[in-house]
Amino acid sequence: MRDLNQLTDQFTESVIRNMTRVCLEAGGINLSQGFPDWDTPPEIIEAAVRALRSGVNQYAITWGQPELRRAIAERVAAYNGFTCDPETQITVCCGATEGMIATLKAIINPGDEVIIFEPFYENYGPDTLLSGAIPRYVTLNAPEWDFDPDQLAAAFNNRTKAIIINTPNNPTGKVFVREELQFVADLCQKWGCYLVTDEIYEYILYDGAEHVSPASLAGMAEHAITINSLSKTYSATGWRVGWIIAPPKATAAIRKVHDFLTVGAPAPLQAAGVTALTMPESYYAGLSGRYRQARRFLHGVLQELDMRPTLPRGAYYIITENPALMAAHGCDDDFAWALKLVELTGVASVPGSSFYADPAKGRHQVRWCFCKKMETLEAAAQGLRRLA
Ligand SMILES: Cc1ncc(COP(=O)(O)O)c(C=O)c1O
Repeated sequence: MRDLNQLTDQFTESVIRNMTRVCLEAGGINLSQGFPDWDTPPEIIEAAVRALRSGVNQYAITWGQPELRRAIAERVAAYNGFTCDPETQITVCCGATEGMIATLKAIINPGDEVIIFEPFYENYGPDTLLSGAIPRYVTLNAPEWDFDPDQLAAAFNNRTKAIIINTPNNPTGKVFVREELQFVADLCQKWGCYLVTDEIYEYILYDGAEHVSPASLAGMAEHAITINSLSKTYSATGWRVGWIIAPPKATAAIRKVHDFLTVGAPAPLQAAGVTALTMPESYYAGLSGRYRQARRFLHGVLQELDMRPTLPRGAYYIITENPALMAAHGCDDDFAWALKLVELTGVASVPGSSFYADPAKGRHQVRWCFCKKMETLEAAAQGLRRLA
């Protein structure tokens, strides 16, 4: 037999989904994979049921139902501070996951480079490789998760096609501030490249943090490609409905890739997406209030156990790093530590090295998610306290 695609040798299966399997086998509490253990709001579910019963069961228009694209454009104008034309700039796709790969496939030529901040959301490396680009990594440094401006500027060159930003950020909880984004935006304008931004946690913010969409910055209309989805904001990770907002020329290419990748996102769930995107403002306040309480609780427990957690300013993850504690339990690396934690406490986290190109950088880190009911977090706390 001839060889398989060699690109697939360059990355592994998802470590996060593997930890979920380990957790299931151990009958543990899963604080590894970032999905809520509560249901999608009932009015959104009812809208999906209505759509299913009223015959919205065939292919939607490939790039998305017009009502949903209009609702996305209105929501973006109200919250994100930029405008876009739903006819020429929005592509509805199967989650932010498809949004990222469809975007990269549409803009990359072989040999192009894509800049990725690490620690990163684990899809960005494989997405970059599969689209034929070469990833270049720039590190966000704990505990503030800031970057060295000189190092970032030096990563740009004539081959740079795009930089990927995720704000609020998974796994660090960093919320990029306006000045940082302006710095990146200036570099994108200088080098004529795209700023691909994953804003899937845009409503989950703490301590007065402000979400800034790079597309809202001056001069970025031709450069910013904004990716989002229903998954996190509406607690509907299984629905697989996302969208890409891009300049018209890029959108035309993205729509072609999207068509041949998936044809379209689920039609009845797109119809229900209109209900989601027109939820009252109080919905968003309720969502962030719920996460605020969960963050305070889990951060407190991890601190009490001397895990050395960093405090996230957005999203719903916490990174901990205490090599001495790991060593006290006979663990020298993050994989051993994450497995030991499942064994000793029944709680699953994610080994930190899976968020870095150079595993050594995350060797003493693990990531915890707190998108869980208080009762789940309290049960996790009980298990974790067995470490004390
Ligand atoms: C930063 C980030 N982007 C994208 C995704 C996946 O999004 P979707 O469910 O819309 O495909 C996740 C899921 O955890 C994520 O953390």
